[in-house]
Amino acid sequence: ISLKPYNTFGINVNARKFVEVTNVEELRQLLKNAYASELFILGGGSNMLLTKDVAQTVVHINLKGREIIEETEKEVVVQAMAGENWHQFVLYCIQKDFGGLENLSLIPGNVGTTPIQNIGAYGVEIKDTFESCTALDVQTLEIKSFSKKECEFGYRDSIFKNEAKGKYIIVSVSFRLSKKDHKLNTSYGSIDTFLEEKGIRNPGIKDVSEAVISIRQSKLPDPKELGNSGSFFKNPVVPKQTVEKLQKEYPEMPFYVLDEERVKIPAGWLIDRAGLKGYREGDAGVHKKQALVLVNYGNATGQEILALSKKIQNRINERFGIEITPEVNIY
Ligand code: EPU
Repeated sequence: ISLKPYNTFGINVNARKFVEVTNVEELRQLLKNAYASELFILGGGSNMLLTKDVAQTVVHINLKGREIIEETEKEVVVQAMAGENWHQFVLYCIQKDFGGLENLSLIPGNVGTTPIQNIGAYGVEIKDTFESCTALDVQTLEIKSFSKKECEFGYRDSIFKNEAKGKYIIVSVSFRLSKKDHKLNTSYGSIDTFLEEKGIRNPGIKDVSEAVISIRQSKLPDPKELGNSGSFFKNPVVPKQTVEKLQKEYPEMPFYVLDEERVKIPAGWLIDRAGLKGYREGDAGVHKKQALVLVNYGNATGQEILALSKKIQNRINERFGIEITPEVNIY
C-alpha cells in the first residue's frame, strides 16, 4: 500500500502491511503479537519525511472521541483521543467558547502527536494549556498518565523525543481551557495588526483564530495543494555573541532573546537571506513565501527532499556559521 495519502509531504513510499486501530484494545493486541520495533506508528503524518519504503507494519492510530472530564465555573478540562484531527478539535473548542488553543488554529496533524514536539505558533505552545496525556507503554501494555512536568516540554521538544522515544504510544491528551475571561495572546506576529485592520476592537477567541488562519494561509502552503510538513527546520538557538557579530553585517536580522546568554534566530530568515527562498531542484523546493518550509511540487522523493535539506544546512553553515537542524522526523 502506498503511504502517499498518509503523509502531508505526499511522498510516495510503500508499506508492506498497514493496519488501522480504532480502540486501545486493538492496539494492545497488536503489540502482544509483535515486537514494538516491528511496528511503525503513524498519526497525522504531518511532521515526517519518508525517505524509503517501510518494512514494518504501519499502524494508523485512528482513536476518536472527545470528552469534558472536569469542569468548574471558570475552567474546563477537555480530553481528546489521539486520532482526532487537531484543527477540528481547536474549532470545536472555539465553538464551545473554551479559550487557550485559538493561536494554534490550522496546524496540520492529529491530537496524539501534538505533545511529542510541543507544537507552537503565534506565541503559544501546547504546554501552556496542556493538562496531561495518557499513553500505552509498549512493553508492559499498560496505560500510563503523564503530567505536564513529566512531559519535560521544551521548544519543539518533549520527553517523547528523548528518553521516552519509541516506548509509548499516546492515546489521549487533555487540555485545561478557560470558560470566561479568556487571556488572549495577540502580540505575536501580525495578529494585532490584522485585527486592527479589520476594525475589531474587542477581539474574542474566534477573532484570534480567524486572524491566525488568515495569516497562516498567506504564508504556509496547504498540504492538500502542495506537499509539505510545515517548518522543516527548528529555529537555531545561538550564543548572544554570535548575534552581536552577525548584526554588524546584517543589522536588520530578526531575533528573540531567550535569556542572558541565548538568542533564537529564525531559520526562515537565514535561508531567505542566503538566497534560497523559492529555490527548486526538480520537484523538491523551498517554499516561495516561507523559506522554512520545504515543499514537494508533485513527485519528489523523500531522498530528494533530504538532499535539498542537507544542501540548505551546508549553505547556512558556510554563510553564517550556524547549524540548523530538522524539526521533522526523518525515516
Ligand atoms: N522570515 C524571512 N523570510 C522567510 C521566512 C521568515 O525573512 O522566508 C523572517 C520573518 O520576516 C520574521 C521571522 O523570519 O521576521 C520569523 O518568521 P515567521 O513569523 O514566519 O515564523 P518562523 O519563526 O519562521 C515559527 C514556527 C512556525 C509558526 C510560526 C509562527 C518554528 C520552527 N516554526 O516559524 O511553525 O507557525 O513561527 O508562530 O518554530 C511549524 O512548526 O510547522 C510551523 C509552521
